[in-house]
Amino acid sequence: MEIRKVGVVGCGLMGSGISQVAAVAGLPTVVLEVSQELLDKGLASINRSLSKFVEKGELSDQQKSQAVACLQPTLNLEDFADCDLVIEAIVENLDRKKQLFSELDRIVKPEAILASNTSSISITELMMATRRPTRFLGLHFFNPVPLMKLVEVVKTVVTEPEIVELGLGFARQLGKAPILTTDRAGFIVNRLLIPYLLDAVRAFAEGFGTIEDIDQGMKLGCNHPMGPFTLMDFVGIDTTYFIAEVLFSEYREARFAPPPLLKRMFLAGMHGRKTGKGFYDYSDPKNPKVNKLL
Ligand code: 3HC
Repeated sequence: MEIRKVGVVGCGLMGSGISQVAAVAGLPTVVLEVSQELLDKGLASINRSLSKFVEKGELSDQQKSQAVACLQPTLNLEDFADCDLVIEAIVENLDRKKQLFSELDRIVKPEAILASNTSSISITELMMATRRPTRFLGLHFFNPVPLMKLVEVVKTVVTEPEIVELGLGFARQLGKAPILTTDRAGFIVNRLLIPYLLDAVRAFAEGFGTIEDIDQGMKLGCNHPMGPFTLMDFVGIDTTYFIAEVLFSEYREARFAPPPLLKRMFLAGMHGRKTGKGFYDYSDPKNPKVNKLL
């Protein structure tokens, strides 16, 4: 089997990025959103990102046009019928994902592969909403997808070896570097990243340093591109909180428990860059100012 046509459900931050890299790789890519407005928004962000690559000389105008031509935007789930691989990138909600996969399973041809980009929900639980659990896997991309090289390919206890190979090959076809992992909460990267981020919140709450100094410490001391607070604002306080809850409920270890401050920020709607406020205030996006939180 070869992956010749791809489907992406969701054209938000992750779905638009995945659609973009699939289209740049020359794969016809059906991309779905629930409303024309959200679809237009997602397509506009793909267009902006492609233009950045053109400005940097990493893509030609012609390659950009070819990529755009590969995109097949739709509002209709039936348009996934002849895709070889459909990747789900909708909100991190178990019931909504299960509902979607059971519908996709009815529509998409039987030999096609279904995949989820979830960062923490169990792939095993999602695959059981379909009648093709052996042809189901996790394909976890990283934000911002067009720039981040990594894809975690997640196999379950029943994924067929051929499907795992197809997942790895697909990631390479997109110019990504895949790593293989198994279906455990957090996979490899979030299993390591989230406790580090949560520890940064605890260190701040315990008075180890200011938000700016802790960020600076990890940037200049460890050469991380972003400090932990900038990264949490970038990923989303809601997303970080949600993943921590999933990790905590799977492993029942204190290090995965979301600290009270993170929970309060989540409840207060301070979700980071996307809401304009998190550990930093983004009223002036080019010059974020630290928020007074304690
Ligand atoms: N498309 C195309 N180009 C883009 C882009 C996009 N979406 N976003 C940024 N760029 C370009 C910019 O135009 C800029 O180009 P230039 O060098 O020609 O000016 C270049 O990329 C660098 O961007 P910026 O100057 O805005 O900012 P940075 O130098 O800080 O780089 C970054 C941005 C790549 C996001 C870098 O800060 C980084 O690597 N940060 C860490 C990201 C990270 O850790 N992501 C993983 C999060 S965890 C996750 O996703 C898992 C999930 O499950 C939670």
